[in-house]
Amino acid sequence: MNLRKTGGNTNLLRFTTVGSVDDGKSTLIGRLLMETNNVFDDQIEAVEKIAKRKGEEGIDLSLLTDGLAAEREQGITIDVAYRYFQTSKRKFIIADTPGHVQYTRNMVTGASTANLAIILIDARKGILEQSRRHGFIASLLQVSHMIVAVNKIDLVDYSQEIFQSIVTEYDEYSRKLDIRDITYIPVSALEGDNVVSKSERTPWYEGSTVLHVLENVHIGSDLNLHDFRFPVQYVIRPDLNFRGYAGKIVTGTIYPGEEVVVLPSGLTSKVKTITTMDGDLSEAGAPESVVLSLEDEIDISRGDMIVRRQNLPLVERKIDVILCWMAEDPLVIGKNYFIKHTSRVVTGSIKKLVYMFDVNTLHRTDATEHNPFCELVKTLHKTDVETLMLNEIGRAEIEVTQPIIFDQYNKNRETGSFIIIDPDTNFTVGAGMIRGVVRSIEETIHVERKVSDAVTKAMNITPEKSFITLEEREEKNNHKSAVIWLTGLSGAGKSTIAKKLERALFNMGCSTAALDGDNLRHGLCKDLGFSGEERSENIRRVGEVAKAFCEQGSLVICTFISPLRSQREQVRALIPEGKFFEVFIHCSLKTCVKRDPKGLYQKAIDGEIPEFTGISSPYEEPLSPELIIDSEHRSVEENLNKIIEKLQSEGILKE
Ligand code: ADX
Repeated sequence: MNLRKTGGNTNLLRFTTVGSVDDGKSTLIGRLLMETNNVFDDQIEAVEKIAKRKGEEGIDLSLLTDGLAAEREQGITIDVAYRYFQTSKRKFIIADTPGHVQYTRNMVTGASTANLAIILIDARKGILEQSRRHGFIASLLQVSHMIVAVNKIDLVDYSQEIFQSIVTEYDEYSRKLDIRDITYIPVSALEGDNVVSKSERTPWYEGSTVLHVLENVHIGSDLNLHDFRFPVQYVIRPDLNFRGYAGKIVTGTIYPGEEVVVLPSGLTSKVKTITTMDGDLSEAGAPESVVLSLEDEIDISRGDMIVRRQNLPLVERKIDVILCWMAEDPLVIGKNYFIKHTSRVVTGSIKKLVYMFDVNTLHRTDATEHNPFCELVKTLHKTDVETLMLNEIGRAEIEVTQPIIFDQYNKNRETGSFIIIDPDTNFTVGAGMIRGVVRSIEETIHVERKVSDAVTKAMNITPEKSFITLEEREEKNNHKSAVIWLTGLSGAGKSTIAKKLERALFNMGCSTAALDGDNLRHGLCKDLGFSGEERSENIRRVGEVAKAFCEQGSLVICTFISPLRSQREQVRALIPEGKFFEVFIHCSLKTCVKRDPKGLYQKAIDGEIPEFTGISSPYEEPLSPELIIDSEHRSVEENLNKIIEKLQSEGILKE
């Protein structure tokens, strides 16, 4: 048996270089290769010849790396060239991504396995949108280390001021990103300043050279040594006496004798042997490719995952992801795509786009932003994102037909990422990082309910049933019971409509009840403030009261801001199907601020009321309410009629 050290190799650094076409990426790589003696003499000669032919002095270093350019133009789906070089300290694999317009998809591919990203910024041009985009993608992909090479520093006369202003601006931006370690270096790839050797022309710069950082950056703690994950690629059965499972250990380590589980079946066994071409091992670790055999005969197939019994990944069908779209054809919601994840390919579709990122500001284009000005702008726009175009990045919910076995990307880049393939063309059209599981509000509530049901049972509480049934009450009232839930911003006109609605229903002979935010907050809910938690408790209590009235046969009119979708869904879940009417009283924030019936908006804007809905606390517009009422452009009477008509058409009121 071989005794070897496993669990990742810190002598190997994978890095990627990103920048646009003219930022000097190829020159930088050429310079690194040449000054570390990683270029063959004949390559240099060839490049020298070209220079001579053109009558140029010196050589064009970028030609050392651009040799593959022509082939790369041939339309290969994913366009990344890998280069290898080494110094006495480390070996390096460079994922060189061409800086065409399709930079996002190339960068995503290159950076997905990188320990470090070099982002090039042209000192003359300063920080461009794509410099931000590159940093953002590096951060999304959890590239732990970044070098920002401020290149062409020679063309700005080695100006410390210019370098410093780029550093300050990028630093400000990158603070919002999840990158632990950024080194800024003033560089001239062409002249060789601070690439391999320290430049005398930047005496004001006291930091490291590019090569020094590459050789010394600490990557030991970036490796996932804990979570043993072994996606099975092939089942090997050379004879009846041996059944092995071949694959790559993507993270973690394993020993013979350890208890393992096979997912998704959940069958357990113990590792019997770990075999490689060099014989059996007493230990193996990522990124080794091995053949495992188990103590028990278990039915295992390609795409299954073998993991340690005490350390399990998630097995789910609905996942919450960050998606980078990489195809000219935009993403189609609901279309079936192939999702390639570890060694498994499953069919799945994107159910919903939650938001998109604006790489410049890192803002998300959704309606739940806290900033009042964003809110104002957004009310003018559609809130739901419908597609992603080439190079766009957003958060989405995906549903696959067979469960996938994964970890969250920030815990495990290998099992937390996937690519999307279009079955019509077989092209890779997207790449994704898994954030977690999608749980519907109903599922979440269901879980909570189960707990509280158990608690009430344990406390010997059993509900009493009335002698009078709801049907009897409804028959007597001559209408059905229902909860009419008016939601909307403060000042949207909820109470005005509610009061008139109650009067109208009362005059029609209905049994009514009115529950209003301001009123209940004087009594039942007077212990509650306006934090997210307290508002949820407020709505929970109100929901229970509404439910009680509804069970008594009344038409319950509720007027609560109830700003979060989850709060409203929680009430919906309490009320029998068909009896809950979510009515969105739509009025722009601008108009609500103008109306300001209680003077509260002014106070909130002056900072006197914290967490004021619409100003410093979010309002989530309903996605599919039973009714939308426009209180800005329609009269109270019109709106009233709309609600009554709805109640009639749904059979709550008789026509
Ligand atoms: S909810 O958010 O929990 O649904 P609710 O409808 O009960 O709110 O109460 C809203 C009323 O409380 C508003 O009409 C307003 O008069 C008052 N109010 C006081 N502080 C706030 C605040 N921070 N945000 C919203 N409303 C507030």
